[in-house]
Amino acid sequence: MSKKPRQLVLNAFFQRFGHHPAGWLHPSSTDNGRPNLDWYIRAAKLAEEAKFHAFFLADFIGQSGEITANTGKSPNNYQFEPFTLQSVIASQTKHIGLVVTLNTNFNYPYNVARLFTSLDHISGGRAAWNVVAQWPEHTAENFGINQNRPPHPERYVRAEEFLNVTKALWDTWDDDAFDHPDRAARQFYNSASAHPLDYRGKYYSAKGLLDFPRPIQGYPVIVQAGNSEEGREFAAKIAELQYCSAQSLDIAKAYYTDVKRRLAKYGREEDDLRLTPGLSVVVAETDQEAQDRFAELQQRVDVSNVHFGGFDLSGYDVDGPLPDLPYQESENGKGRFRQQLELARRENLSIRELVLRFRVSRGHLQAIGSPKTVADIIEQWFVERGADGFNIVPPLLPSGFEDFTRLVVPELQRRGIYHKEYEGATLREVLGLKRPANPNTGVPKGASAHRAVPSVAAEEAELLRAASA
Ligand SMILES: Cc1cc2nc3c(=O)[nH]c(=O)nc-3n(C[C@H](O)[C@H](O)[C@H](O)COP(=O)(O)O)c2cc1C
Repeated sequence: MSKKPRQLVLNAFFQRFGHHPAGWLHPSSTDNGRPNLDWYIRAAKLAEEAKFHAFFLADFIGQSGEITANTGKSPNNYQFEPFTLQSVIASQTKHIGLVVTLNTNFNYPYNVARLFTSLDHISGGRAAWNVVAQWPEHTAENFGINQNRPPHPERYVRAEEFLNVTKALWDTWDDDAFDHPDRAARQFYNSASAHPLDYRGKYYSAKGLLDFPRPIQGYPVIVQAGNSEEGREFAAKIAELQYCSAQSLDIAKAYYTDVKRRLAKYGREEDDLRLTPGLSVVVAETDQEAQDRFAELQQRVDVSNVHFGGFDLSGYDVDGPLPDLPYQESENGKGRFRQQLELARRENLSIRELVLRFRVSRGHLQAIGSPKTVADIIEQWFVERGADGFNIVPPLLPSGFEDFTRLVVPELQRRGIYHKEYEGATLREVLGLKRPANPNTGVPKGASAHRAVPSVAAEEAELLRAASA
């Protein structure tokens, strides 16, 4: 059987008003600033009409109470809570995947397991989880848990255990556990299909059964974003879709090769993980028109209060170089921080140039031009394996996304690199990802394959026994 030609994966990554910091100042932004449900529904429907694989909702949970010169200057954190919103979008769409961002540090596996399996069933198998493990101080304070802040590498270890426990909870029911209620025998389900969990880990534990059937997809599609060494390894181990950022094709190719190379170690194949860097697009009928549109946004950028690596740069000349200060790598975005510093040093950028180059696109690839110009860039990155697809991050919304779907999508389809129809019912099927089998299938009544996971309590007991022997 001939293999289907490789196809681009497209995600819609929407930030209200667009990703450009001045998007909300554009004359086309006229709403009063409160999140608007109709707007999101329209956006998701538009993405579905353009056959986008997934509608991605980021979530930078929490808000600091500190009032600084920058307080109130950005609209980006004021969005709907993603589960609530994706549940509504699920009911208004039929095919598009629904990616919810959920931070493992401010939740319990049991709660997360039931939220995702509910969304997966509500949407007919379209749920995906963007697993994030940041530990912003203000968020921890919001939750009242700011003791024992785990260092950066440990957050990924914690997140992995969180994910393992969550998967084990999804597996507590056979896939067909609730498909055959026997009314005559008054037996709602066969007790042999229940595999209660007793998992005691280092950071998380869970005992009992999940109170909802296994997700339609087995597990929701697992998404991850992070550029650091630990982030790449985590992606290779657990992710099926990865959001990343790269400013040039060389950087993207090196990243792609590096992350894909790590998969074999975990018994995974190249296609088990799709890499979709961000793409900030401004498209218009002609290159000049697109450049003019972008310039209109750029002229609204405020460079008066720039902070970088823990330093307030407002006392420095914005047209001078990034001063030589002992910048601190952010624990919550190591990769991004390095990318900015390296770019500024490599190209000797002034503070203003760094803001206008990196921050306006958040370090994502920029494509500004006619449909041909934009499609050429997409095709080159795809064909030369800098990307399996893109996370489209329009600087200006909704018009920037409407332009993309109207002008670029048909061009990609004409070139045969982007699908014209959804093939498959679930997000996994549409992405061509395997459905994870339930390791508890065939496991005897009342038992769980996940019990084999060595618990830290057991390891500790073993150590104590050895010490007292
Ligand atoms: C496209 C993209 C989207 C992201 N979305 C979120 C998000 O919604 N919430 C969040 O807490 N972090 C988000 N992140 C941050 C990552 O989860 C991660 O913390 C960050 O990339 C730093 O990882 P690193 O230190 O491994 O490089 C996002 C990152 C990227 C590249």
